[in-house]
Formats: sequence, structure tokens, C-alpha cells
Amino acid sequence: MAGSIKLGVLGSGSGSNMQAIIDAIESGDLHAEIVLVMSDYEDAYILERARRAGIRAEVIDCGGYKTKFPDERQAVVASRLRDAGVDIVCLAGFMRLVKRPLLDVFPDRILNIHPSLLPAYPGLMAWKQAVDAGAEESGCTVHYVDAGMDTGPIIMQARVPVLDGDDAASLHARIQVAEHGLYPKAIGQVAEELCLG
Ligand code: GRF
Repeated sequence: MAGSIKLGVLGSGSGSNMQAIIDAIESGDLHAEIVLVMSDYEDAYILERARRAGIRAEVIDCGGYKTKFPDERQAVVASRLRDAGVDIVCLAGFMRLVKRPLLDVFPDRILNIHPSLLPAYPGLMAWKQAVDAGAEESGCTVHYVDAGMDTGPIIMQARVPVLDGDDAASLHARIQVAEHGLYPKAIGQVAEELCLG
């Protein structure tokens, strides 16, 4: 694959992980380029961060559904990403389940970051699940996305201790620091494999 790897990012929220990817690219730690950022919420801060960094930012029209991501809308997103020349799609706090219309266009090329050491604590608010379970350790995982919920093959993980007195918010904050180091590193590894492959 010639030139630098092109990334597309999908997110629903603050976009701190996308910011970490931007920072890693700017510092030369990650040889890639973000060419398109898409969010299912027009007021999501991730879009603002993208625009500030001079990256194309677009809203995904989910047809008014709060959590559903209809197949025909997934097909539209797949076309937008493909037309932008995206090689790897990075989910960064994207709160809708990705299914075949997207998976088929980017086989083994959609990554997600999840705030636990998968397979432990899949699903929503994994940091709260860890605190509620009395876990002594948690962390974060970058994995390939398949049709399940946080079930795809694991690429890289980082461990984070659960400290005495932690609540869901303090543990999430500690996990996020680890995420910001892990995601660019995992993307770099996948990009390198794609270039070699
Ligand atoms: C992260 O904790 C990530 O693990 C989860 O959603 C959160 C997104 O945070 N999937 P941000 O939008 O990147 O700040």
C-alpha cells in the first residue's frame, strides 16, 4: 500500500481518543492521516475537534433513531468512507453497533477501543462494571470489530489498576489515559501489517 495509511474515525462523544490519534500523527509517532470523521450526533465534540484540526467532519443521519443504526445508513457511511479513500476505520466512542453493510466493505479493517480487558466487561460502562464487580485490575482493549458486541479478535491491551476508593468516574479517567497511549500504538501495528501484507 503506497503512501500513508488513511484513517476514518466514527465517534459519538468527546473524541479524546481521536485527539490522541491526531497528536500521535502530529508528533510523528503514527504514520497515518485522518481523512474523515463522522458522528451520529451533530453537536458531538469529536466533530469540533476534527474541524479544528482541519479534518473533514460529517454528521451521520441515523433516520431519527436513538440507538439503531439502520442498514441503509450503514451503507451510506461505508460509501462515504470508501470515497474518502479510507484504509482503516477507527471506532472511537461510537455508540451504535456496526453490522454487515459496513463490515463487508472494510473486512478486518474496522477497529474499536473498549474500556476493559476484554473478554471481561463487554458492553456499556465497562469501568462501572469493573468497580461494581470489585475487580482489582481493569484496562482497555483495541480489537477488530465483528458483528458481535465487543467480541472481535484482540489486537492490543493495556492494564490499569483499580485503586482503593475508586469510583466509576475515577477508574474511567485512569483507563482513558491508558487508552490514549494504546489506540495510536495499535493502529500503527495494524497499519504496518497492512503495508507489509
Ligand atoms: C472510551 O472510553 C472508549 O473506550 C469507549 O468510549 C469512550 C470514548 O471516549 N468506547 P472519547 O470520546 O474518545 O473521549
